Amino acid sequence: MKKFFIVPSILSANFACLKDEIECVLNSGADFIHFDIMDNHYVSNLTFGPLILESLKNSNIKFNADIHLMTEKVDSLIPSFANNNAKFITFHPESTNHIDKTISLIKSFGCKAGLAINPSTSLHHLDYTINKLDLILVMSVNPGFGKQKFLDYVLKKIEKIRKLIDKKKLNIILEVDGGIKKDNIINILNAGANSFVIGSEIFSSKNYKKTIYNIRKIINNYNNKKK
Ligand code: DX5
Ligand code: ZN
Repeated sequence: MKKFFIVPSILSANFACLKDEIECVLNSGADFIHFDIMDNHYVSNLTFGPLILESLKNSNIKFNADIHLMTEKVDSLIPSFANNNAKFITFHPESTNHIDKTISLIKSFGCKAGLAINPSTSLHHLDYTINKLDLILVMSVNPGFGKQKFLDYVLKKIEKIRKLIDKKKLNIILEVDGGIKKDNIINILNAGANSFVIGSEIFSSKNYKKTIYNIRKIINNYNNKKK
């Protein structure tokens, strides 16, 4: 039975009190915390590195970290995230010359490996990697910034990947990232996603708990109807 995950992206959080922000969404039922690592090369934005994870680890806050690497190079970064409690490390195929090797490197640290597919990137990268992946991250915005509009044409892609996962009976999380709101999540559920990276819809809302509660209600209603 598929589990459904709500994954707040801290890109839109208030960094001046990041630990409180994370504790608030965790107490409101968030499953993982999504960290958008940007190097101003792979995408034209610069965010943060592993030191954030290290300080959170040292401040004894426990959570499943979902690391999304939007960096020109990834292999040299993987150890520092893996050694700071990363549970998932996801990279874009364009960021490595050897996709299979990078997946193995992530898994060699005991982390789960994800591949991120940009909106207009084809699915052929999955042909020879899907059996090694724990997570597929489907970008529903062009990577680099929060608060963008969901690209509806990605729904078809999500459906295709869901069919592929189910046909091969693989235990892979199908995660969607970018522009997810209360009023469009049902379409993304219908397309077959089971993990939802949500940034501004949560962190720009007045009440994180209420927002996450309402999103969970939509997911549970969808689930109950499917039974
Ligand atoms: C964009 C990031 C997304 C983004 C989601 O490059 O990968 O995780 O933070 O933010 P919203 O939900 O505001 O689109
Ligand atoms: Zn992301």
